[in-house]
Amino acid sequence: MGEPATEDQNTNLPGAGGAGLDDDRDEPEALQGPSVAPEHIGEPLVVLTEVDKYFGELHVLQHINLSVRKGEVVVVLGPSGSGKSTLCRAINRLETIQSGTIEIDGTRLPEEGKALANLRADVGMVFQSFNLFAHKTILENVTLGPTKVRKKSAAEAKKRGMELLKRVGVDSQAEKYPAQLSGGQQQRVAIARALAMDPKVILFDEPTSALDPEMVNEVLDVMVGLARQGMTMIVVTHEMGFARKAANRVVFMADGQIVEENDPESFFTAPQSNRAKDFLSKILTH
Ligand SMILES: Nc1ncnc2c1ncn2[C@@H]1O[C@H](COP(=O)(O)OP(=O)(O)OP(=O)(O)O)[C@@H](O)[C@H]1O
Ligand SMILES: [Mg+2]
Repeated sequence: MGEPATEDQNTNLPGAGGAGLDDDRDEPEALQGPSVAPEHIGEPLVVLTEVDKYFGELHVLQHINLSVRKGEVVVVLGPSGSGKSTLCRAINRLETIQSGTIEIDGTRLPEEGKALANLRADVGMVFQSFNLFAHKTILENVTLGPTKVRKKSAAEAKKRGMELLKRVGVDSQAEKYPAQLSGGQQQRVAIARALAMDPKVILFDEPTSALDPEMVNEVLDVMVGLARQGMTMIVVTHEMGFARKAANRVVFMADGQIVEENDPESFFTAPQSNRAKDFLSKILTH
């Protein structure tokens, strides 16, 4: 992968020739740094303003201000319990917030109903635990949303579904059921399923944490490919190789607050706050 990824490259993802994400040293210069040149980053797409969220007494999101621009890849880091998943779930309105506003592409998140369903369809989500429908085939998993929510014809959804499965390297598994696939394959299906909705942004919540180590890179490779093609992504992950390679920005959370944000290189080499330094010293020694 010595040049920007293309769709063709992404069809050959699994197996040999993976990017070896946890070792940057042998990478050509072109693969270092942000996935999208800053001038290609567009207008604000996801905008959180003074967002507060409580679980009972627990102030789990505290005055969160965050703006993610079109084409930008933001990695969210932070200790367990700092509110990273809650942040993702609030952006997708799987959790309600108590105050502040969340806008997607200029539209404030609706409270409920059809408007919410439509806006939610613009926000893809990939979870740690794949969440595929166990009793549907791989292809059905990918075509369900487009036919039910986006009202595509079955033929159109199938054609696009197969293209996307090919793009993530699992088209040969289309007629199988999720349990017949490896974790890495299932997570790539989950990414294809998110893409099938033509989302404006995809949220990833620790997409590789539940995978066996040998499957992590095949999923990260797909994500790096998406990043390089200009997909707007918010990614909760401790995979620093991915952050260094694909992220435009790292957002560090602790105790429900955004404590620090910076470009990946600066964040990893020169964290400013004690909490970030402490966090990095822990994950770096593992
Ligand atoms: N449904 C819930 N009800 C009550 N408290 C919750 C709920 N979900 C999360 N919390 C609490 O909110 C805080 C933030 O949780 P969250 O899952 O967002 O953290 P996180 O940063 O994603 O952590 P991890 O790295 O472990 O996934 C934690 O203290 C958690 O226990
Ligand atoms: Mg979490």
